Amino acid sequence: MGDLLDLLTVWMPRQRWYGTKGRDPRLTLVADWQLLAPRTRVLLVRDDAVTPAALYQVPVSQREPDAVLPGSLIGPAGDGLVWSDAVTDPDFTDLLFRLVSVGGPGSETVGGFAGLALSSAPAAAASEIPARVLSGEQSNTSIIFRPEGAEPVICKLFRQVNAGVNPDVELQSALAAEGATFVPAAIGEVRGTWSAASGETVTGSLAFAQEFFEGVEDAWRVALQAATAAHDFSEPARALGESVARMHVALAQTFPTVVPDAGVRSAVAAAWSRRLGIAVAEVPALAPFVQRIQEVYAEAAAAPWPPLQRVHGDLHLGQVLYTPSNGWVLLDFEGEPLRPISERRSPDLAVRDVAGMLRSFDYVSGAVADDDGAAVRAWVIAAQQAFVRGYAETVGPEQTAPDALLAACELDKAVYEAIYETRNRPDWIGIPLAAIGRLAPLKD
Ligand SMILES: Nc1ncnc2c1ncn2[C@@H]1O[C@H](COP(=O)(O)OP(=O)(O)O)[C@@H](O)[C@H]1O
Ligand SMILES: [Mg+2]
Repeated sequence: MGDLLDLLTVWMPRQRWYGTKGRDPRLTLVADWQLLAPRTRVLLVRDDAVTPAALYQVPVSQREPDAVLPGSLIGPAGDGLVWSDAVTDPDFTDLLFRLVSVGGPGSETVGGFAGLALSSAPAAAASEIPARVLSGEQSNTSIIFRPEGAEPVICKLFRQVNAGVNPDVELQSALAAEGATFVPAAIGEVRGTWSAASGETVTGSLAFAQEFFEGVEDAWRVALQAATAAHDFSEPARALGESVARMHVALAQTFPTVVPDAGVRSAVAAAWSRRLGIAVAEVPALAPFVQRIQEVYAEAAAAPWPPLQRVHGDLHLGQVLYTPSNGWVLLDFEGEPLRPISERRSPDLAVRDVAGMLRSFDYVSGAVADDDGAAVRAWVIAAQQAFVRGYAETVGPEQTAPDALLAACELDKAVYEAIYETRNRPDWIGIPLAAIGRLAPLKD
């Protein structure tokens, strides 16, 4: 197994889902499940290249070299075989499909790697199901199944895993079970059980399968096309506000909420300030705005707050699909990947999601070529206003957060973007900086 870990140390950093760019993994084996599929296993490996360490799920299989696509090759496995990424191995994908559609054990160790069917729909034939890995920028790996004579299914394999249920599974399957149509129907999940560093036996989410909407586009593309063509987006934006509001109402009814007492407020405000401190150190152009931003935060902290509740946590136009059957459908409830899992599972301000979407509309202005920017700016403002209107009409006045709180959440998100763009896409830094200038305008 040591040889395989050495191979993974070289292979993992080349994968899109590997989270620590620019550093070599320092891997330790945490679990190794021999699957009920030929020459296939799932490894859980801890990576100490970051603190706290990250835990990755890596399904691998031993195959004949010519059965393996170049991108799936991990390295030699002896006896003329090679280690490969099992997500492109039909033996693995057939097993995964069976686990999410029928349930039951998936590994020789009972309970190690096991499926749980969530849908009452009859399961399709469990072998030779056409399966394809979704291409594109993803922090996890999704496999699309197209069983003959049944609806297509998308199964997301979580690459970074944690003990406990993943909020993506927890929230979306609860919403789907209540009949919500603004999330895909839940099909099934896979859970693993392993020994944590503390010696404790823990269980965590490894995969989640949902209804797949064939041939649809995400809201980012729909919005870009509309902005480029200068098409009015008020009605779609209003309907999107309504979907987000229905999600918040349903989450508040299904999961516990938290009274925003002084302790809760100061913890949230402290998180805003902490992020601002990090941003100023990395983005010198923010310095003139710090005092004004702090004033907006102070005003928000003193305003009336609605109860905290479970939220989406990473809402933007790229996490929404436009479907002919269900209208806007919300995806990917994992929360911001950079936040610790405990924070991502905690009740939060619902208005953070509203702010996330407003910021996402603002990014359309940076992605659309326009002579002087005035036309696209007007498009963005109209879309944002329609979105907020659709949201407020649906949640009602009691649940609508005061403007000061929305402004603070938008600023906090823009401050996060300023850090992100400085690190990853310096050409885009103008977008969050301009937003900060509007949200915290300097006094003369
Ligand atoms: N149910 C679905 N139907 C159609 N496309 C989907 C579905 N779920 C996800 N996708 C596509 O896969 C992409 C990645 O899914 P997402 O859940 O956001 O994964 P990640 O956690 O890796 O970001 C989405 O942006 C969307 O384009
Ligand atoms: Mg996503």
